[in-house]
Amino acid sequence: MEGEAPQRGAAAMAACYQRFDPAAYLQYNYTPPRADFQRGDSIVPWKLGCLHRAFRDGDVSGDLLVDVGSGPTLYQVLSACELFNKVILTDFLEVNRKELKLWLQDDGGCKLDWTPYLQHVCALEGRRPSEWTQKAARLRQVVTDILPIDVHRPQPLAHDALPSAGADCLVSSFCLEAASPDLASFSRALGHIGGLLRPGGHLLLIGALEESYYFGGPGVRIPVVPVNEAQVCDSLKQNGFTLIRLEVYTLPQAMRVGVDDVTGVFFAKARKN
Ligand SMILES: C[S@@+](CC[C@H](N)C(=O)[O-])C[C@H]1O[C@@H](n2cnc3c(N)ncnc32)[C@H](O)[C@@H]1O
Repeated sequence: MEGEAPQRGAAAMAACYQRFDPAAYLQYNYTPPRADFQRGDSIVPWKLGCLHRAFRDGDVSGDLLVDVGSGPTLYQVLSACELFNKVILTDFLEVNRKELKLWLQDDGGCKLDWTPYLQHVCALEGRRPSEWTQKAARLRQVVTDILPIDVHRPQPLAHDALPSAGADCLVSSFCLEAASPDLASFSRALGHIGGLLRPGGHLLLIGALEESYYFGGPGVRIPVVPVNEAQVCDSLKQNGFTLIRLEVYTLPQAMRVGVDDVTGVFFAKARKN
């Protein structure tokens, strides 16, 4: 029957995520060498730079920003939190939502210290790194919710989660390709999350290029749909987005640390038609 095969694929992906380990994932991807703020070719500073420039351009504005598939990470909203009064974080897994809540509540127990990230983004904004505490306070103030999401549902969030007009901006990093069994599913998921955005709103989409798996914990091998730049651009177009900018990072050998087979990262800034 029509529609059953995509559901089976999404269910298989959901099963892969049951052993996702936030602490291990953070360790693999968000500590040196991938998050080394002293080296020019490190992947995390590249992502933070793209996000900083996307918001500095001056064309992204509004009240509400939604981050789709936040995982256990916060780096992707460190620039955005200065522009938006409300930020909603979302993830499929409760373990990830719990990790985000730990940081928000500021009672300790977080699996990663986000201080160097906050300091780095302050420096990008021309502020003293010591102002990181103000940025942390601002982020804690503007995050109004941490919600469950499923990008494979036509309505990924609970029906009353957002105002009827939709969000003003969406951010999503390394979620769609890591949650989708194939390209068609990736593209459908992009359409689903596009439904959360108001017309004219912006999407900042970051993702892996040509990746076929990553480890979400020791022995937790999660399949990824390999996508290339042209497929990302096509999918944006098919789903009613106009591409504003695409930036690409190619992983140097030092960033290939055995936790995935990613070869590059794309950063797309697009506007919903
Ligand atoms: C590779 S991680 C990315 C996490 C984070 N955004 C980052 O930049 O590192 C992929 C994330 O997608 C989430 N995910 C998996 N299936 C999903 C689904 N069906 N809907 C939404 N998110 C999903 C996982 O829980 C995980 O947090």
